Amino acid sequence: MTQDELKQAAAAAALDYVQPKLDNNTVLGIGTGSTAELFIEALARIKGQLNATVASSEASARRLKSHGIPVYELNTVNCVDFYVDGADESNRALQLIKGGGAALTREKILTAVAEEFICIADESKLVHTLGNFPLPVEVIPMARSYVARELVKLGGDPVYRETVITDNGNVILDVHNFPIPQPLAMEKRINNITGVVTNGLFAQKPADLLLLGTTEGVKTLRTE
Ligand code: A5P
Repeated sequence: MTQDELKQAAAAAALDYVQPKLDNNTVLGIGTGSTAELFIEALARIKGQLNATVASSEASARRLKSHGIPVYELNTVNCVDFYVDGADESNRALQLIKGGGAALTREKILTAVAEEFICIADESKLVHTLGNFPLPVEVIPMARSYVARELVKLGGDPVYRETVITDNGNVILDVHNFPIPQPLAMEKRINNITGVVTNGLFAQKPADLLLLGTTEGVKTLRTE
């Protein structure tokens, strides 16, 4: 199976998981990236059952609206029941690196609000130690050089993602050559640097459920 087929299988499994739990009050949080897009395509087939969604990026909001799926601002809903999104890496504790698509801050906000965070990914995303994928850090533009110097002190090689401005008007530094054996401590440490909006480690609030597309079928991993 191709990587896209594995992502597709994970997205379909997320729909199977969520659909029986939908009612008139359900608010569905929708992530960003190619796997989340496949989930949106799956959702479009049952759009009559969807009352409200909240998106983690302008791109996902546009895609949802193009299917006629109702999209709300987070501040206008009382809760988010489920948040479904991809990841760039996950370890077995379901701590993640996210932000390859530069939407990490809104993704982290939705993760914080959601009752249940369902991560969907193909098997290449499951790793022993986070950090092979460069860690995205969203930074206030005027603090870029300062934050980069602080990230070097932590042992990483930050690279400015020059072509990207986030939906929040900020810039991204991708930290290369940066193995992360203690994701929770590192998430807090980087977020403590003045000028950092947030970083792409999702360890303080990991996924609740990982639906992993593998060549042997979709595997379900849960946090213990
Ligand atoms: C978006 O900012 C990211 O967090 C994505 O969830 C992540 O990059 C996974 O993307 P793919 O589903 O395209 O692999």
